[in-house]
Amino acid sequence: MSGEVDCPGDKSISQRILILGSLLNCDMEIDGFLDADDPNSTLDALNKLGASIHRDVKRIYLKKRSITFCNPSEDLNLGNSGTGARLLLGLISGLGIKSRLVGDYSLSNRPMSRVISPLLEMGANIESKEGTLPITTNACSINDDYEYLMPLASAQVKSCLLLAALSSKNNIKITESKITRDHTERMIEFFGGEIYYGNETSFGQIELKNRDLSTKDYYIVPGDFSSASFIIVASILADNSEILIKNVGLNKTRSGLIEILLLMGANIVIKNKKILSNEAVGDIIIKSSNLNGVDVPENIIPNIIDEIPILSIAAAFASGKTIIKNAAELRVKESDRLNAISKGLSKLKISHEMFDDGISITGTKDEIECDDIIDSFDDHRIAMSFLISGIRSKNGVTVQNCKNIETSFPKFKDIMNSLGMNINEKN
Ligand code: S3P
Repeated sequence: MSGEVDCPGDKSISQRILILGSLLNCDMEIDGFLDADDPNSTLDALNKLGASIHRDVKRIYLKKRSITFCNPSEDLNLGNSGTGARLLLGLISGLGIKSRLVGDYSLSNRPMSRVISPLLEMGANIESKEGTLPITTNACSINDDYEYLMPLASAQVKSCLLLAALSSKNNIKITESKITRDHTERMIEFFGGEIYYGNETSFGQIELKNRDLSTKDYYIVPGDFSSASFIIVASILADNSEILIKNVGLNKTRSGLIEILLLMGANIVIKNKKILSNEAVGDIIIKSSNLNGVDVPENIIPNIIDEIPILSIAAAFASGKTIIKNAAELRVKESDRLNAISKGLSKLKISHEMFDDGISITGTKDEIECDDIIDSFDDHRIAMSFLISGIRSKNGVTVQNCKNIETSFPKFKDIMNSLGMNINEKN
């Protein structure tokens, strides 16, 4: 495999700029937006709430509007997007809006109590079906400052609460036990907000200090490290490959996979590092590499949480054992990802052991032969990961239920094929 590609826009950041930008209520052009199902469902929901977001083939345009946010007359359908549902719940609660949030089968089975409980403590008025979607929000007013010690490592929870505080014009202090992705904090700072991160003794503190944000007329979304990770591992696994991925988001709270792959012996070089929209970005060159198994440090898990499916594929072809623990959150993603990874690895005949909170994988140097169909469990990252495993297969691999790739990386097949893979769609 060889070639050069531009990294598609970041899904998490695309959704955040729509939400924060709509709250700022200004004219703003957004470049690099990820045109995929998840950001698009967030966009539609915001427009139903009274935002004025338009698009053409190149950009997104936020328009300053004369009306404030309103109670939507229709359900807000967040499709497959946990980020959309959880972050919007923060915004809506802070604004005291009456609404009903729904989602697809997967999203309707994902836990929402993690955001509902602290929002109720803040003063929100929310009803749900045992902590899952559909969720109804009722008029309310959050009118007090709030302090929250997060029981789990979740950037979605943290961002939801920051948005609830911002939109209700209250202060908030959140303490996280493990550092999770900090795109919301960086975006707040980009628009002139101030966040106090405590001193050396106050690990994980995030305190919203100045919440008078200023407007800007332009925002550029950096490339999505999570999408780049499929290309990175593909290039590592392929023979004689060299791929350049341009404009990849390299925020340290997201790009832990690079650290792990380097530990495993990968040939990865980062060039042209710069700051864009208060986020680190750079170009990555990846060449074919022989990997060794690794014991993944537990504190890095929140920073590789979306990359564990593709890391499992890298581990499947490394020498020795890779151990991933403390990753029980994988069980409540778009699918039960530990189960989905284990089921797929079994079909590839890769030796592994699944735990309640992780998996250990013993890699093979041999080419695999897979005669069975692999199930993606309707999960985009599982689908893409197992398609990449086909690079090391004698007879290719077949993955079923790949439509969900549209949620995060619609150009996956075209980009991978342009680099030398051979992914075909069958109906
Ligand atoms: C996300 C945070 C992560 C991640 C998800 C996107 C975000 O979820 O898995 O794909 O945009 O904040 P958690 O914060 O729930 O771990």
